[in-house]
Amino acid sequence: MIFLDSSDPKEIADISAWGIVAGVTTNPLIIAREAGNIDLETRIREILAVSEGHVSVELTAETEAAMLEEAERYHAWDPQRVCIKVPFSETGLRVLNKLVKRGVATNVTCLMSFNQAYLAALAGATYVSIFSGRVRDMGYDVRPIIEETRKILDREKLGSQIIVGSIRHLMDVNEGLQAGAHILTVTPPILRKMLWNPRTDETIREFNTAWAKRGQ
Ligand code: E4P
Repeated sequence: MIFLDSSDPKEIADISAWGIVAGVTTNPLIIAREAGNIDLETRIREILAVSEGHVSVELTAETEAAMLEEAERYHAWDPQRVCIKVPFSETGLRVLNKLVKRGVATNVTCLMSFNQAYLAALAGATYVSIFSGRVRDMGYDVRPIIEETRKILDREKLGSQIIVGSIRHLMDVNEGLQAGAHILTVTPPILRKMLWNPRTDETIREFNTAWAKRGQ
């Protein structure tokens, strides 16, 4: 499946019309970049209105009590569709455990290793988000992390789905899927690149020109 890694309601509405988007992921950096200091609830409600599936909203508080209070507030905006994005840490795991027990959908984020993804899956995360580009920035191959995580999820019949995010190139999409990701979360510019092939454009032009000139 493909999720959109964006907080731009216009882009989300536009690309959702292609029929290929199953959910949306946001994070504080994306929202700060795309919308400045807009009211978060307003922005998330705009996204919910133009999309389908889970919309991940990330916690920014850093203590367990504050994160739980924040999660409760976000969850109330749409209990069926808001998915709480929990940054991975020991505190994050405590928060995750409580949210899972309350039946809240969760996306454990900022995962850079198999060990972290395994712990998040054991704790019952709905999604475990492995950050392809950021792992590669450190000089490591992300594919074994995705492959091993997928293998253990299948072997132990854990319910989490792997999201691969932090996608920088088209090859990250292809390799993430081949390595066993359930979902790729992709920015609009990368997704638009997936459409494009010069040979396709040339072939369509050739066909349409032939059609326009038929009988001449
Ligand atoms: C995923 O859920 C994150 O929002 C995102 O993919 C992070 O990507 P970045 O490394 O470009 O910040």
